[in-house]
Amino acid sequence: MNTNIPWWKNDTFYQIYPRSFQDSNNDGIGDIQGIISRLDYLQDLHVDDIWLSPIYQSPMFDMGYDISDYQAIDPIFGTMDDFDELLTESKKRNMNIIMDLVVNHTSDQHKWFQEAISNPNSKYRDYYIFKTTSDGKEPNNWRAIFGGSTWDPVPNEPGTYYFHTFAKQQPDLNWENPKLRKEIYQMINWWLGKGIAGFRIDAITHIKKDLDWKSLPPDAEDGLASVVKKGRNRPGVQEFLNELSNETFKKYDAVTIGEAYGLTDRDLPKFVGKDGYFSMVFDFNYMNIDVLDVDEWFRGQNNWTVKELKKVIFKSQNEIKQSGGWYANVLENHDQPRVLSKLIKNKEYQNANAAKALGIMYYFLPGVPFIYQGQELGMKNFEREFLEDFDDISSINNYNLAIENGYSNEESLSIINNKSRDNARTPMQWNNSIYAGFSEHKPWLKMSDEIDGINVLEESSDNLSVLKMYQKLGEIRHDEIISSIITEGDLHEIYNLPDSIIGYEIKTETQSLIVLVNLSENPVELSNEYNGCLLINSLTNKSSDHITISNLSGYQALVICK
Ligand code: NOJ
Ligand code: CA
Repeated sequence: MNTNIPWWKNDTFYQIYPRSFQDSNNDGIGDIQGIISRLDYLQDLHVDDIWLSPIYQSPMFDMGYDISDYQAIDPIFGTMDDFDELLTESKKRNMNIIMDLVVNHTSDQHKWFQEAISNPNSKYRDYYIFKTTSDGKEPNNWRAIFGGSTWDPVPNEPGTYYFHTFAKQQPDLNWENPKLRKEIYQMINWWLGKGIAGFRIDAITHIKKDLDWKSLPPDAEDGLASVVKKGRNRPGVQEFLNELSNETFKKYDAVTIGEAYGLTDRDLPKFVGKDGYFSMVFDFNYMNIDVLDVDEWFRGQNNWTVKELKKVIFKSQNEIKQSGGWYANVLENHDQPRVLSKLIKNKEYQNANAAKALGIMYYFLPGVPFIYQGQELGMKNFEREFLEDFDDISSINNYNLAIENGYSNEESLSIINNKSRDNARTPMQWNNSIYAGFSEHKPWLKMSDEIDGINVLEESSDNLSVLKMYQKLGEIRHDEIISSIITEGDLHEIYNLPDSIIGYEIKTETQSLIVLVNLSENPVELSNEYNGCLLINSLTNKSSDHITISNLSGYQALVICK
């Protein structure tokens, strides 16, 4: 095996949404002790790195993506001692902990912001972005990602506003200020010094805004224009990222995964190429195939086809290859609907077979696989009947925007049911008891009523389950020969396939992996015959020494090696 490759390049990553993973003290909210109690489960899935969505102190307007103290654990999740225990227990099992780094903004409850608004002369004033206008109106017409103006009035200072890219409870930090930057780097190094392996980095392309602060032509009925045009991946962001990476991550050989929306293929080499700012960025290209606008889903659904999906996947892979970088491949996260509900249009087929086909589709692509909790069980969206059933701030805002833009109540509810972040945030399903073994207390978020057969306990004893397949994928992906084919080989799309089949081959000079995935309910004939050893057949979860195949059943997927 090539020893020059970065330590994380063949790892399997698992995202935990701590609030919904496992509750240890029966208050209906998941916590750190709950995570510790499930580490063996993750080890059985062959997970190497665990990404924790934020567990820092927070008023939870955006479920922890609004941090009020970067160096404290929120009491609902436990204590710093619990966290240290989690680090130790993970290390014992050869697993790393990766934290979520949210430094585009803080909570409005952060002491820096509290001081900044209570005293205009405080040194913290320049940690944020304030503007005073002579006419008393907002400084410009930019729309925040969670809806409404990016500007909110500062109490007791008429005509003065502060800036927020996301919700008004999430004021943006002013990265132009070197003192702020230094303070952030110290905090990052404190965590790395504690022994975490790295960070998933939130909203990082937003840290630089165009300093002309100019209004834009409105793009919707509200007269506003999306902030992303002037506040995401703008000129100058690269200097900030370069400094950030040199002052922190590079010193620790940390793994970093950027949530870097808005990149073009030309940006990739700088972000993730050799000596890039980050180890990887997420490939979100196909994750958002279902919406007309990634940032503003109130604009409605995109009626995509498997043919288009294929195109997006291979275009994306081609771009990352050109850049010399490595992608973090994802089907789900806490901001997205469940993949089974999203990519399998006919509800009748949103079942274990399709979940397994989707899993095989992305697991072997060059890059590292990220599994989001519950994806390995085939969990699905949970449809909510009333607006009151939603908790997520962006679902509620998108509902309001859809209504404002002329959609009916029913249509607006359907848009957010399809896309709501609450879909992925329902409690993890450990067994089929009343609260799915997540808690004995009613969970913080209304949970799915489809628990039977889609839970860890039942799937552990079912050889055909989605869980058993993910365990097997983890095992295969850790085989030295297989992982070296993926890291050292070249990816080729297989072209002469029916539209519903996604096929690729990864080849080194001597070996190859062939992945064939039928994303339709209908059986299909292949124009070629494929043979070799069978690493996994999704329909049986089994491998065998040899297979010859010239057709696939509905939602069947295979990995063949040569
Ligand atoms: C991306 C996070 O994944 C999402 O959950 C959050 O709301 C925004 N960034 C703002 O931090
Ligand atoms: Ca708890």
